[in-house]
Amino acid sequence: MSRCDTLIRNASVLDGSGGDPEVLDVAVRDGLICEIGTALEYHTEIVVDAEGLALAPGFIDVHTHDDIAVIRAPAMLPKLSQGVTTVIVGNCGISASPVRLHGEPPDPMNLLGGAEDFRYPSFSAYKGALIEARPAVNVAALIGHTALRNNHMDRLDRTATDAEIDAMRSQLQEALDGGALGLSSGLAYLSANAASTEEVLALVQPLASAGGVYTTHLRTETEAILDAMNEAFEIGRIAHVPVIVSHLKCAGIANWGRSGEVLQALETVRSTQDAGCDCYPYAAGSSTLDLRQVDERVKITITWSTSHPEIAGRSLAWIAAAWSMTQMEAARCVQPAGAIYHSISEEDMRRILQHPATMIGSDGLPNDSLPHPRLWGTFPRVLGRYSREEKLFSLAEAVHKMTEMPAQRFGLAGRGLIREGYFADLTLFDPAKIMDTATYADPVRTAEGIERVWVNGVLSYTARGATQERAGRFVPRGRTPWMQ
Ligand code: ZN
Ligand code: CU
Repeated sequence: MSRCDTLIRNASVLDGSGGDPEVLDVAVRDGLICEIGTALEYHTEIVVDAEGLALAPGFIDVHTHDDIAVIRAPAMLPKLSQGVTTVIVGNCGISASPVRLHGEPPDPMNLLGGAEDFRYPSFSAYKGALIEARPAVNVAALIGHTALRNNHMDRLDRTATDAEIDAMRSQLQEALDGGALGLSSGLAYLSANAASTEEVLALVQPLASAGGVYTTHLRTETEAILDAMNEAFEIGRIAHVPVIVSHLKCAGIANWGRSGEVLQALETVRSTQDAGCDCYPYAAGSSTLDLRQVDERVKITITWSTSHPEIAGRSLAWIAAAWSMTQMEAARCVQPAGAIYHSISEEDMRRILQHPATMIGSDGLPNDSLPHPRLWGTFPRVLGRYSREEKLFSLAEAVHKMTEMPAQRFGLAGRGLIREGYFADLTLFDPAKIMDTATYADPVRTAEGIERVWVNGVLSYTARGATQERAGRFVPRGRTPWMQ
């Protein structure tokens, strides 16, 4: 009889493909899945009886801002406790590397950390720090357009010159050569909003030969969202690069009810080019406080404020009343700050979440002391609330949106499926119990129903908590297990 490290018996296997579950045994050896079958026989000290539980590939959080968290807080409990085994960092145009600051980080790079946290002038420096930090989850990285702009431009309120674009391109190429997944943009933010379509296109073009992807926080998510989507898709079409629209939503009350139109635009473009999106399962967004989004009809909660730390957790309406001023005046006073905007309709969010091209991404903000609950709750919420209870999709489809689909879209070879020879990133959960518990009022809470999480074959989390093992790796673009 041959040896294995762990044998998981009689699990209801949701293999990530979206197909129906099957009761199977899964054997793990040397960090890989070595065999899948029934009544497997192995010499091993660790046998897990998984009867009645679901075994899925470890979840892939495609939209994170964990760039610095994976180094400074490598236990990564907010993600591990949800069954997430891989995070994709560098979204929304902001990445921890390659970055050389001139003073304070520009908005919204300050979401990732303070000036002292930006220590990685090159992608290889970041990778080195990551490997040394040994995070508990795997990390794959996008390069942020705004980060590149910060490095090469004296001011961000204009489009880049040809020389600046060249400098950004060579830095991007270096990162792609080092295994970065592609480029992200955050065109809605004032630090990138002045960039022309041509500037972005010039940076997306090198992704084609590298096999990279372009992800974008659209130029706007409000009334002109269709124009912003067209811009993104045109860039992808000309450059022959897949486009992923980040946290697709119809933001702002005037924009509610338009998810059908927006998804139709995505459908249409998908018939001729590679495009998709990610979404978080909440009817509120969160980022830095943007005065353009202040609207008295929308509840806005301040999550942090540098000038007035004491008002964290208060709504803008409460602050305005307490200080006898308008919400706009209050918003100006508390800057710089972070905010949660209840500016999405639940119905639109559900329709987008349900779409077959939609992946799951938390967009969690790990530095906020009172973070949006998506940081701790996204994946169990999709499985428990939106699949089991609301039946927006089957459990197998929900798992597919967080495993094989992202692995394929981002080129994470050897992950996202339960297959022999694949990395043993595995999440065992109770399908009857899985549920998020984090709320807006009490956002730092681990989910229920996650029984065991293995990262590269190492048991890293159980229902009793983290095991303190940290087996995550840097995941380069498109390498198969035997190449790593
Ligand atoms: Zn964003
Ligand atoms: Cu984001």
